[in-house]
Amino acid sequence: MSGLKNRLEKSKKIVFLTGAGISQESGIATFRGKDGLWQRYDPMKFASIQAFIDNPKLVWNWYNDRRREMLVANPNLGHIAIANLQNYRHVSVVTQNIDGLHQRAGSRDVVELHGNIFDTKCTKCDFKSTMKSEFFDLQICKSCGSYLRPDVVWFGEGLKQEIWNEAVIHSMNCDMMIVVGTSLTVSPANSLLLYAKRNHATLVELNPANSPYSDEMDFCIRKTATEGLPTLFSIFGTI
Ligand code: APR
Repeated sequence: MSGLKNRLEKSKKIVFLTGAGISQESGIATFRGKDGLWQRYDPMKFASIQAFIDNPKLVWNWYNDRRREMLVANPNLGHIAIANLQNYRHVSVVTQNIDGLHQRAGSRDVVELHGNIFDTKCTKCDFKSTMKSEFFDLQICKSCGSYLRPDVVWFGEGLKQEIWNEAVIHSMNCDMMIVVGTSLTVSPANSLLLYAKRNHATLVELNPANSPYSDEMDFCIRKTATEGLPTLFSIFGTI
């Protein structure tokens, strides 16, 4: 770990690539692994455009349940450590999560690859809106009368080009990428660490389990987010 602390001390721009695991200790279910969402729900029936076309009410209500879960969740010590690191380094967060917890912890530069569960958009026109706390039933677009849907990336859909470009630019310009709480099984998110590697960035994986990219990492910390992140940044004092 001393090698990592030396690199951390020398680092200037740190990019975090995060997934569902960083929110697990906030009480939000991950997708894979023993209690994962996809063990209980078929993603093709709840997180795809065809699912929404086939049964918009089922999909909308499923996202309502997840919105409620995310609204009552709080950022954990992992989210907070990343936000506090902004006092010592240039920090960007590229997250696959749609829960908004990085922003609620105080992270200012957050790229949401897969969108945000509180954003909605029309299935036909370019109407968009952001929900506050209330949860309504399936909504009809005020301007064209079509269904509103969660403004998140579903299976089979591409990422917004401007979002992807921003994530790639961060990954190509960092000297350290810390990958926290992701199985790295979904593309193109999992390719971002290869952009960082090409830029000779130090790659760190913080995850209690291995991932398909563990061998690419310079350092692997087999701890949870709330165990590993505050300790890692203890060189900057208790952050
Ligand atoms: N701290 C750190 N990591 C954890 C913790 C924790 N407390 N708990 C679990 N993990 C790790 C698991 O070991 C696993 O590697 O988090 C990872 C969660 O993996 P997934 O459930 O696959 O979540 P993620 O990688 O974010 O999925 C990517 O898949 O279904 C899509 O859109 C969805 O954004 C999601 C994408």
